[in-house]
Amino acid sequence: MNHSQKTMNTVSLLKHISAHHTPAVFANSFGAEDVVLIDLISRHAPGIGIFSLDTGRLPQETYALMQTIRQRYPETEFRIFFPAAAEIEDYVQKNGPDAFYNSIELRKQCCHIRKVEPLNRALAGKKAWVTGLRRDQSTTRQNLLDTEWDELHGLQKFNPLANWTEKEIWDFIQEQDLPYNSLHDKGYPSIGCAPCTRAITRGEDIRAGRWWWENPDSKECGLHPATPLSA
Ligand code: ADX
Ligand code: SF4
Repeated sequence: MNHSQKTMNTVSLLKHISAHHTPAVFANSFGAEDVVLIDLISRHAPGIGIFSLDTGRLPQETYALMQTIRQRYPETEFRIFFPAAAEIEDYVQKNGPDAFYNSIELRKQCCHIRKVEPLNRALAGKKAWVTGLRRDQSTTRQNLLDTEWDELHGLQKFNPLANWTEKEIWDFIQEQDLPYNSLHDKGYPSIGCAPCTRAITRGEDIRAGRWWWENPDSKECGLHPATPLSA
C-alpha cells in the first residue's frame, strides 16, 4: 500500500469513528505521529475531541510546540488534563522529585499519578479513544491492532497509524509543512517527560531513549499495556 492510500484509509477510519463511536477523543502527546493526527482530525474529523496529559515534567520544547499548534489550528480545542495535585505532593514529599530513577516501582508510581490517573479522567464517559501508536515503534508494540476493545477503560481503542512507517510519518509532516517538536531534530524520535527521555545514537532502537536505564520489556508507562504475544 502506498503512502497516499494509507492516508486515505486513515482518514476514512477517522470519519468512521466520528460518525459511529462518539464521544471519541484523541490522546495527543504532540509527538511526530500526533501532529499527523491533529492535522487529519482537524481537517477531516473535527467531531473527535483532542486532549493531552500534561505531566508537569514535559520538556520546554513540547510546551513551545503546544503554543504553535494552538495558533495553527485556531478552530480546534486542545484540552489539557493535569495530575491530581495532592497525589503529586504526597509522592514528592515521600520520595523526592526524581525518585523515578531509584526503582521501576517508583517510576511506575510516578507514571500512574502523572499519566494513568489523568488518562482515566480523560476517557471517562467516552465511547472510543484514538492514539498515535505504531507497530514498528518497539518490541512491545509489534502485535498492535488497528482497533481493539480496551477492557481496562471499557471503550474501543483505535490506532489509525498502526501500519505507518516512521518515514511515512515524516513524509506527511514535510508535505503538509506541519510544525513538530524541535527535539526530533536533536536525536529524539520518541519524546515523553524531560527527565525520562534522552537522545538516541545511530543504530539504537527508536524508543531506546525512553526510560533508558530500564530493560526494554518494562518500558511502557501504563497508558498502553503491551499487547500480549499471541499463543
Ligand atoms: S508512551 O506510553 O510511551 O508515553 P508514546 O510516547 O510512545 O507513549 O506515545 C504513544 C501514544 O500515546 C501517543 O501517540 C498518544 O496517543 C499517547 N500519549 C502518550 N503520552 C501522552 C500524553 N502525555 N498525553 C496524551 N496522549 C499521550
Ligand atoms: Fe514520571 Fe518519568 Fe513517568 Fe513522566 S515519564 S510520569 S516523570 S516517571
